[in-house]
Amino acid sequence: MPRKDLLDIVSLSREEVDHLLDQAGPFKELFTRSVKKVPALKGKCVLMLFYEPSTRTHSSFEVAAKRLSADVTNFTVEHSSVVKGESVRETIDTLQAMRTDFIIVRHKMAGLPGVIARHTRACVVNAGDGSHAHPTQALLDAFTLREVYPDLAGRRVLIVGDILHSRVARSTSQILKKLGVEVAYLGPGPLVPKVGPENIRRFTDYNEAMRWNPNALYLLRVQMERQEAQFFPSLREYHKVYGVTSERFRQIADQGIYIMHPGPVNRGVELCDEVMNYPRSLINQQVENGIAIRMAVLYGLKPHNGESD
Ligand code: CP
Repeated sequence: MPRKDLLDIVSLSREEVDHLLDQAGPFKELFTRSVKKVPALKGKCVLMLFYEPSTRTHSSFEVAAKRLSADVTNFTVEHSSVVKGESVRETIDTLQAMRTDFIIVRHKMAGLPGVIARHTRACVVNAGDGSHAHPTQALLDAFTLREVYPDLAGRRVLIVGDILHSRVARSTSQILKKLGVEVAYLGPGPLVPKVGPENIRRFTDYNEAMRWNPNALYLLRVQMERQEAQFFPSLREYHKVYGVTSERFRQIADQGIYIMHPGPVNRGVELCDEVMNYPRSLINQQVENGIAIRMAVLYGLKPHNGESD
């Protein structure tokens, strides 16, 4: 039976991952045509329920839904009754009454998209919940890496930064491992969890991590908003110890290592300005691929309420 919701990467089988990545290819080809729309979701309603800020994910889902000809409604928290004290449960009941077909939800509370999914007939997509999961980011990362390495098995990706608070690190490492990629973490000791997925190497020293010979560096955004304690002395110090400085960038370019980042980028913290013009920076490709992946996700989900198309 087709899946109703996309809440995380762990629950996707390898076959489902391959299928979604394969489906995104033809959607991406559409972007080069003068007419970029297909009628696949004509008459369907997509509700964007974002309780946390987002630039890329929000706009990417909106563009994806519109390219599939769906109608999109933005539920803006600051203009909703949530600010008057309405509970999430009341909001869910209201959404249910609207009989929307898809709900795209971002919330700081891990697990909330799953709660919404259980209480609505609509297909629910997790657009990022706390430090838990960001499945469409992971899918677009895997799709982007597969464009440069059609056979991903045995490739090495070093994920750098605040692993502890990162839903991106969690979901992206899970999908890469499903695809046979070797994954390692690099970051300040307190931000690299000791427990967690097995077969992931953990480094706290940049030079030692680079001797592991990664094919790609995946730089995470430093999330000041999720840190209850100060895990490093200053952003300047972070850049010096873990960032791609100008000096490190020259070595990275010499070795032909790809650079990825989920955005938004803190220039001068995770990376120096030169990276933005680096031919092996995949950062803009990740943004473009996000639309194709989200089209594939919306196209592939089906409600379990017996309604036929
Ligand atoms: N990559 C990502 O989730 O970015 P936004 O916070 O801008 O959506």
